[in-house]
Amino acid sequence: MASITIRQLDEDLKRRLRLRAARNGRSMEDEARTILRMASADELAEQSRANKAVPGVAPIPQPAAPLLARSIARQARVLLIVGGGIAAYKSLELIRRLKERGVVVRCILTRAAMEFITVLSASALSGERVFVNLFDPTTEHDIGHIRLAREAELVVVAPATADLMAKMAAGTADDLASAVLLASDATVLVAPAMNPHMWAHPATRRNLASLERDGVLVVGPKVGEMAEEGEAGIGRMAEPLEIVSAALPFLHSAHAPQTLKGRRVIVTSGPTHEPIDPVRYIANRSSGKQGHAIAGAAAALGAEVLLVTGPVTLPDPVGLKTVKVETAQEMLAEINRGLPAEVAIFAAAVADWRVEEPNANKIKKQPGSSPTLTLIENPDILATIGHRDKDRPRLVIGFAAETEQVIEHAKAKLARKGCDWIVANDVSPGSGVMGGDCNAVHLVTAEGIESWPPQSKEAVARALVARVADALTGAQP
Ligand code: CTP
Repeated sequence: MASITIRQLDEDLKRRLRLRAARNGRSMEDEARTILRMASADELAEQSRANKAVPGVAPIPQPAAPLLARSIARQARVLLIVGGGIAAYKSLELIRRLKERGVVVRCILTRAAMEFITVLSASALSGERVFVNLFDPTTEHDIGHIRLAREAELVVVAPATADLMAKMAAGTADDLASAVLLASDATVLVAPAMNPHMWAHPATRRNLASLERDGVLVVGPKVGEMAEEGEAGIGRMAEPLEIVSAALPFLHSAHAPQTLKGRRVIVTSGPTHEPIDPVRYIANRSSGKQGHAIAGAAAALGAEVLLVTGPVTLPDPVGLKTVKVETAQEMLAEINRGLPAEVAIFAAAVADWRVEEPNANKIKKQPGSSPTLTLIENPDILATIGHRDKDRPRLVIGFAAETEQVIEHAKAKLARKGCDWIVANDVSPGSGVMGGDCNAVHLVTAEGIESWPPQSKEAVARALVARVADALTGAQP
């Protein structure tokens, strides 16, 4: 493959590239790469615009394409600070997971981290130089800790040890990691990992509270076995994929304009569980992936988000308020408590019925006879909010999970439930939507129907919230 170096460019081009790179705080090589990526992303967006939709429905909505193009155009950069704990080995996996998603990862290892992992393994996996020393003349000459701090859109601290958290809270800057953290104005996400006693210690509680007040985002820690034999409790670092899910919305937000800043958005997600007795319940199939992705995407555009979720196994999205409920009645109560809001998006798969009188004790099996359950209707949360006179959100958005006549049923729900938009999807068994990572949706509004291409639930979420932002500013219906 032919290669081209900056040196081969003519002098005028080189001069202009140098100026542009300096303006954007990038190296000349990085600037050249950025220009090429932008050109390629524009081409992708162009192809997407040219792509006509299914006959009979409107073409692919435009917000999705530029948004995707934008994420390709400017490669996201994470600065990963690895603290000294046994969980440091998981940070190597985290580098791989971020790289798989096209993220550029630069690493700083603290002195203690080097007791657990090596510079060589971190640099081999990241494909980038690894930084360790504040007073390294070569590093300071080439990059400098201030540039290291400024070039990342997101700083991830994983594992965030009790010591690193204490330094961050106090604003100490006596090594490269803490100096960079103090010099950075990027969003910071910490993944704490420590012994349960250290996590529970009042000093760590105080430090955590200070960091949260400073706007630091936190993912984990989780409950589980500790590295020390016989120790268990809360303190295990979140898994690499959980950290990636927490990080991604903020990488997109670094590129995305804060179009929902100051707007309050309520999102419902997951199933509800309606008790039959203390051990059995009625539920719908729902992983909560779509609802959680929407909540995260809205927060990434600057919205103040309240996520009301039924029981799911997903981690709480970071940067927003999550309230956990079991039943439809509890979900409705939390939403009423959360109003007023400008937007409400109902992605939960609410159980339509509940048992009129759940048994106080476990119903025992009687040979030859089955119990009879009397079901009564649950409140329809979407319809209740959609038909409110007082405090009705400006934009009420429902979902329609259908297995046949998707559009017809969705249109009927739009009218019946008094909502503004319905996001309709085919959830029939062969579609793979339930529990899967992809979704193909139709956006049904009073203006018509748009069929969006199959895409990840995150991409659907980003396209939907971008559309919401447009609607609130009057650019869309
Ligand atoms: N919904 C709700 N409260 C309920 C039932 C549904 O808020 N008790 C909301 C869902 O969150 C979704 C929309 O209504 O946004 C449509 O849900 P869906 O299950 O597709 O429709 P149902 O109203 O349950 O109608 P059906 O089961 O007959 O399709």
